[in-house]
Amino acid sequence: MSPMLPIKIAPSLLACDFTQLSKEIRVVEKAGSDLLHVDVMDGSFVPNITVGPIVVKAVRGITALPLDVHLMIERPWNYIDAFAKAGAHQIIVHAEACGKRLSETISLIKKHGCRVGVSLRPETPLTSLQSDLERLDVVLLMTVNPGFGGQRFMPEVLPKITSLRKIFEGDIAVDGGVNLVTAKKAIEAGANILVAGTAIFKTPDATKSIHEFRKLAQDAIA
Ligand code: DX5
Ligand code: ZN
Repeated sequence: MSPMLPIKIAPSLLACDFTQLSKEIRVVEKAGSDLLHVDVMDGSFVPNITVGPIVVKAVRGITALPLDVHLMIERPWNYIDAFAKAGAHQIIVHAEACGKRLSETISLIKKHGCRVGVSLRPETPLTSLQSDLERLDVVLLMTVNPGFGGQRFMPEVLPKITSLRKIFEGDIAVDGGVNLVTAKKAIEAGANILVAGTAIFKTPDATKSIHEFRKLAQDAIA
């Protein structure tokens, strides 16, 4: 199935050289990225700790790209205000972390004027989105277990993308192990936002990698 929505490329800063943050961002911005993906981890929802609102705010100051903030944290409702004020364009929370407070958290993100997304771990079924699905701008399907970059794409998530595309008209993002081979499969299944860290920043030439993703995206919608 050809996706109707434009395909967007979202480099994940997790894989960049943080000693060269502004330079890395300039490169992917100039190469034609659509979004900048920021992975926020708390060492509790996932076994890793990354960055918080201070870094989002700093990044906001050095790029015009929309910031796609992926919250892999417990009690995300406590931090929506901080990330919105830091300049997030899109805030994605995990259904597993929200539990019964998912609807309320979605409303909170909307109230702050941000695009709203919900992410699911590979094993979490689409049914956990329930009636909230129609309120979402994006569903981010994890294609690795969240927590670390550089893992292998889990092809068993592909049928979940196909099922979601049948019932959801918004953006479907894939995150984890996305490279030119797996991105093609994800696009064919119905995804239209490609989050990629390793396949962009850990290559010898990030610009070339983004151009290759762009070509893949153009071929997919041609
Ligand atoms: C993983 C993060 C991803 C990660 C993807 O928990 O959500 O955004 O950066 O990294 P790669 O592309 O290296 O799998
Ligand atoms: Zn992510």
